[in-house]
Amino acid sequence: MRKIKVDLKRLKYDIIIGKGAISRISGVISGIGFKGPVVVISDRNVRALFGKYISKGLLSLPNRVINIDVPASERAKSIDVFQATIRRIAKATRKHKPLIVAIGGGVVGDLSGFIAATFRRGVPVIQVPTTLLAGVDSSIGGKTGIDIPEAKNLIGAFKQPEAVIVDTEFLKALPERQLVNGMGEVIKYGVIKNPGLFRYLEHNIAKIFRKDDAAFARVLYDCALIKARIVEKDEFDAKDIRIILNFGHTLGHAVEAASGYSDGYNHGESVGLGMLMASGIALRLGILTQRDHDRIKDLVKRAGLPLLAGRLAVQKVMGAYSHDKKFVKGLNRFVLPVRIGGVVVREGISENLIKAVVREHVREQN
Ligand SMILES: NC(=O)c1ccc[n+]([C@@H]2O[C@H](COP(=O)([O-])OP(=O)(O)OC[C@H]3O[C@@H](n4cnc5c(N)ncnc54)[C@H](O)[C@@H]3O)[C@@H](O)[C@H]2O)c1
Ligand SMILES: [Zn+2]
Repeated sequence: MRKIKVDLKRLKYDIIIGKGAISRISGVISGIGFKGPVVVISDRNVRALFGKYISKGLLSLPNRVINIDVPASERAKSIDVFQATIRRIAKATRKHKPLIVAIGGGVVGDLSGFIAATFRRGVPVIQVPTTLLAGVDSSIGGKTGIDIPEAKNLIGAFKQPEAVIVDTEFLKALPERQLVNGMGEVIKYGVIKNPGLFRYLEHNIAKIFRKDDAAFARVLYDCALIKARIVEKDEFDAKDIRIILNFGHTLGHAVEAASGYSDGYNHGESVGLGMLMASGIALRLGILTQRDHDRIKDLVKRAGLPLLAGRLAVQKVMGAYSHDKKFVKGLNRFVLPVRIGGVVVREGISENLIKAVVREHVREQN
């Protein structure tokens, strides 16, 4: 079992990674001396696949356990599902403060974390991510939230968990597209901070798709470590440190928004395209070598991520990009790679240059 200690000024917690890590939940709960009811929030897919495994993992808990399942899609991050879930928790726990255990992908993690941040002005939460994307990204860092029709994640709060428990056993059931989705973020970590991870992926990516436990554990550890160390320095995303995690996300978000979130390109696929576009900008600005640019492109391709968005219009992507919230004083901001393992933040990238790289990776449709 691998462990990362996250040290925030007012609290510390562990990220525990490995096969069978779910059994550590009871130790975390007894470690904080929590004796009240435990509410396990999951989604219907995860419950159908892992209901027995989860029950077994929680068998040694002396606490009363209440299971709640939410829909297995972004729809669960709605005000309606938020309210329905909170009401079920209120009815089931009455006067007792519960502890929430979120077992699922980023959707379950974001919804459950937001419930934990707000129910009774805050109750403890343990994050148990079951997708690669959630394991390397959304479960770490304390950002939680739900969507409204106007935009994703518009309502939210920071809520740090008591622990993040990443059990690689869950990842075994992931469909290939979900692995590819997570690989978008994994490659991002290699490019922004860890050339060793990038090299490891260049040589061992097949092991991830073979669902090799050791490969999962290595990749999850390296990525979680980067995210944890960045979050330690900038817990509330207020110091311009977390921004490097946005590599590939400025134009990636535009691709994701232009494709309508659910039925087009998923987050990882969009970030993959966004990373290619950012690398294209860096290449043209002369701050990234052709060789490193091509290494990024090759790895993105070998991860099964698209090199070209064939179903989108350039205008739509450019429109979505203009609405991006990350403009500062009217200037756009990009995280651009300067080598494998290093990025810089540049402001005021010319619109023509942006359009040129978008054109390269988006095929216009009539
Ligand atoms: N809070 C953050 O910092 C942060 C960061 C990145 C993304 N996010 C959020 O994360 C969400 C996306 O997360 P996601 O990609 O994990 O999506 P998801 O939670 O919708 O999971 C994807 C699909 O995989 C299924 N699934 C989950 N675990 C499985 C398993 N082990 N085996 C088989 N199927 C499984 C789910 O039921 C779902 O259908 C978005 O809402 C996004 O906004 C949050
Ligand atoms: Zn992301």
